Amino acid sequence: MPTATAIAHPNIALCKYWGKRDRALNLPSVGSLSLTLAPFSTTTTVEWGAARDEMVINGREASAEEARKVFAVLDLVDSWRPKVRVLTGNDFPTAAGLASSSSGFAALVLAACAAAGHPRTPEQLSVLARRGSGSAARSIFGGWAEWKVGERADGMDSHAFEIANEAHWDVRMVVAIFDAGPKAISSRDGMAVTQETSPYYPAWVASAPRDLAAGRAAVRNRDLDALGQVMERSALRMHACMMAADPPVFYWKSGSVWAQDAVRSLRERGIPCAWTMDAGPNVKVLVPTEHAELVARRLGAVADRVHVLEPGGPARLVG
Ligand code: DP6
Repeated sequence: MPTATAIAHPNIALCKYWGKRDRALNLPSVGSLSLTLAPFSTTTTVEWGAARDEMVINGREASAEEARKVFAVLDLVDSWRPKVRVLTGNDFPTAAGLASSSSGFAALVLAACAAAGHPRTPEQLSVLARRGSGSAARSIFGGWAEWKVGERADGMDSHAFEIANEAHWDVRMVVAIFDAGPKAISSRDGMAVTQETSPYYPAWVASAPRDLAAGRAAVRNRDLDALGQVMERSALRMHACMMAADPPVFYWKSGSVWAQDAVRSLRERGIPCAWTMDAGPNVKVLVPTEHAELVARRLGAVADRVHVLEPGGPARLVG
């Protein structure tokens, strides 16, 4: 039975994706920019031809909802596919604001296309991964990736591409965990209510392209001050937009605000660093490698746990 195994790293957006221009095709309203992060990873094995469709996540049977999303993506790999067995595992907490869906769908589509004998370009894999979860479009690539909004109605030009690889810039992402439990509301549902009810949503969509262009230039120039301003602005605008939804989409905890303050005071002491936050209370801080330990110690004073992550490589086949 044809089998393939792939590994992919999660990514954290520096310029955020929040909102969709097409829900069925999972097309974004704004372009986004991210950093792929190692050593956290998802490893996924796909057996193309099994007795029944089956999916196991971290040793447990997937829920009906998880399985539905995964098998819908496999139907796109081959609409005449046989039954498939998927075994997947993360070496970091699932659904903890650490974008496990990003590495999950990236590893899935790469392993599935290899097992099915349908090789795809990285851009085609990115389009497929996007259908499972938008942020996964970026985890096909290593290092610094941008996911384009695209113009085509069929979404075939809405994929990620690499801005710079993982060796481009000697930085770390310090992840401060304030709650490793599952999210109160999924990004997908949070986006939908924001888009439908937040009066700030049109302003968010209008302002994002400028931030994306500035973020891309800052990455290319390895300019942490410029990138830091863009990162914090993008995160604050995204969260302000969702907080203004009805009902509000609110992920912050007191620790999140404390960590933002800590980053500001480190900066005042001359340590270049900047924070971002996603659909959860955890705070991620981008910092030159030489200062990463100091930032980790500072955040470790209040956070439940701290991880120091480094730029990671692209999704790849390992078996
Ligand atoms: C806040 O990619 O999880 O992390 O496409 O609906 O699966 P779906 O959403 P998802 O959303 C990620 C949102 C974010 C920002 C980002 O990663 O750009």
